[in-house]
Amino acid sequence: MDGQVRGSAVPAELPNHRVNEHHEKPRIRLFDTLALNRLYAPEVDAVVRGVIERGDFEGGEDVRNLEREFAAYCGARYCAVTTSGTMAMHFAVRALGLGEGDEVLTAANTDIGTCLGIEHAGATVGLVDIDAGTFNMDPAEIEARITPRTRAIAPVHMYGIPADMAPILAIAKKRDLLVIEDAALAHGATYDGKKAGALGDAGIFSFAAGKVLGGIGFGGAIVTEREDVVKRIGALRFYGRDDSPYRADRVPGQMPSTTNHYGFNARLDTIQAAVLRVRLRHLHDEIARRRAVADIYTRRFAGTAVRPPAIPDRMQPVWRNYAVLVPEARRDEFRRGLLEHGVETGVLYVPPIHLQPYWKSKGYREGQFPTSERVADQLICLPSHALVRDEDAHEIADHLLALV
Ligand SMILES: Cc1ncc(COP(=O)(O)O)c(C=O)c1O
Repeated sequence: MDGQVRGSAVPAELPNHRVNEHHEKPRIRLFDTLALNRLYAPEVDAVVRGVIERGDFEGGEDVRNLEREFAAYCGARYCAVTTSGTMAMHFAVRALGLGEGDEVLTAANTDIGTCLGIEHAGATVGLVDIDAGTFNMDPAEIEARITPRTRAIAPVHMYGIPADMAPILAIAKKRDLLVIEDAALAHGATYDGKKAGALGDAGIFSFAAGKVLGGIGFGGAIVTEREDVVKRIGALRFYGRDDSPYRADRVPGQMPSTTNHYGFNARLDTIQAAVLRVRLRHLHDEIARRRAVADIYTRRFAGTAVRPPAIPDRMQPVWRNYAVLVPEARRDEFRRGLLEHGVETGVLYVPPIHLQPYWKSKGYREGQFPTSERVADQLICLPSHALVRDEDAHEIADHLLALV
């Protein structure tokens, strides 16, 4: 059988992340950045040409405008953009004054970028188990994980679902901890009507292609109410220089050259910022589509053996991924069945952090975060991007339910 399932072009071994490597292109992709980029091509081409013709590759006005527009979108006072979500987490942790000897608690099922960003700042990562309904840090698990070195909690809005911020903020207040939201997957999600990322001391985002707000490459951002934090980040990303390259009165080609602090070169490219501004204008409509698709899945899977997420009313997700839980023993069979109908699925953010070889080598072991492990064994991410139509969502639900 050479690794093939009988009567099928689908390989028996499904790679964790994407399933289409050995298969003809699925009809309904898990992410469809290619088709989305085609859709926005006329607008994107025009703004990219604009940057090339202005030549403001350094200190470009699109960067300054993106920061203003994205801060307004999030309902935050300040935004600073950078090269990735990982770097955004690094800078948020550093700019809040944390480093060596400090611990930041985050969710055991998060992306590696969250944890590496914390470690880049010299701090250490502490993990907290999750709630199986929302896939997010379980507030009831936090206090037992607080150590004398804990200085901050970094809840992650996994799969675009807001973490349960009210109890997390209450614990942080009681224990005098900072809150850094990881909203890398949750641009536009709300909790009690407030945007994810704007609820704590700082919030970080990723703009990598395939995110809810994604560019044509990589990028990230930090939003905050704190002027001191955004100023520190401004210097950190620009060789430790206090003078911003993005001032409106900046003469192109005449950049500041005085280094006041330790720093990095981690500025977002002007072209990327220009593209992200185009995408930001479409974000509202894209999120509406994602929510319509998620509503169909939620209705169709209610009361079946395919368990949809359980989301309290105060959380309005943006469904970067729509993850369902299925019996572990049948997950591959379900994914293969969907792929045979041309539907691409994913098993994303698996295994949990403590079972990744790098963190396992620090002494973590299996069984320490049981809900994260169970969810990792059972979840399937279904297509929920802005090009999934109602009929696609129904078709995917039909196929999956027929397999149960
Ligand atoms: C939850 C979360 N945090 C942080 C990151 C890191 O972002 P980036 O890939 O832009 O470095 C990601 C990326 O997928 C993520 O999913």
